[in-house]
Amino acid sequence: MIILDGRKTSSDIKDEIAVAVKKIVAGGSRAPHLAAVIVGEDGASLTYVGSKVRACKKVGFDSTLVKLPKTTTEDELLNKVHELNNNDAIDGYIVQLPLPSHIDSQKILVAVDPAKDVDGFHPTNFGKMALNLPTFISATPYGVMELLERYNVETEGKHTVVIGRSDIVGRPISILMSRKSNPGNSTVTLAHSRTKNIQELTRKADIIISALGSPNFVKADMVKEGVVVVDVGITRVKDDSEKGYKIVGDVDYENVSKKASYITPVPGGVGPMTIAMLLKNTLQAYTKK
Ligand code: GUN
Repeated sequence: MIILDGRKTSSDIKDEIAVAVKKIVAGGSRAPHLAAVIVGEDGASLTYVGSKVRACKKVGFDSTLVKLPKTTTEDELLNKVHELNNNDAIDGYIVQLPLPSHIDSQKILVAVDPAKDVDGFHPTNFGKMALNLPTFISATPYGVMELLERYNVETEGKHTVVIGRSDIVGRPISILMSRKSNPGNSTVTLAHSRTKNIQELTRKADIIISALGSPNFVKADMVKEGVVVVDVGITRVKDDSEKGYKIVGDVDYENVSKKASYITPVPGGVGPMTIAMLLKNTLQAYTKK
């Protein structure tokens, strides 16, 4: 069994980006600049955004954190988005999700300039992704693909079962895995909350990618010997630690890993990859400009 080590791989990618940034700056140009907008005080979102900003520093990017109060109106947020679209010093930016319920997320995401949409959430970029055209691929799906690629996991002709159909993880991964590319060229089944007898599908799967957010959902008796397992689940479960919680994946790692050929741990698998891929997208936004 080989562990798909997201910590090491993301660190390698960040090192590669840092080298590229050093070259850019040595050539007399300014560093790439990522901005992140966060509305409200959601603990998990603040943690994620904080990590994104810290990662920028590590690779030599400039970063701007725009913190807005929970009471921010949709129009005020749209104004901020327009401001960022028109700010030439910002190469790419993200609006951290989820947004407070009084704001229509779709309205905000379509207002982001697709050329600065390093999250790849704009319909234009999502459409290009589906059509296999150059674009920004959302960080989490991109991180999954990059892990499979760097570990030379064979995906062509394999049966991949993706569990979960969210707009930002499950659905794009299902598209990427079926695209005519490497990794890709897989026969994909997209399972979700209305799927019947999911274990019948997972037992036949060569590759399982779970993006459900349901702790220990994938059990050893649901997988076959030699399966490749990518666990995208990150659920905070309360415990007695200093932090008060631990991060738990969708997969019963202890037992499933005994049958797997490759598997991602949680934490330390897909999670760290997402930030590295966001930085990669930002470098791409900068270079394109
Ligand atoms: N919330 C959870 N994941 C993400 C992400 O990748 N991007 C943004 N903007 N918000 C998120």
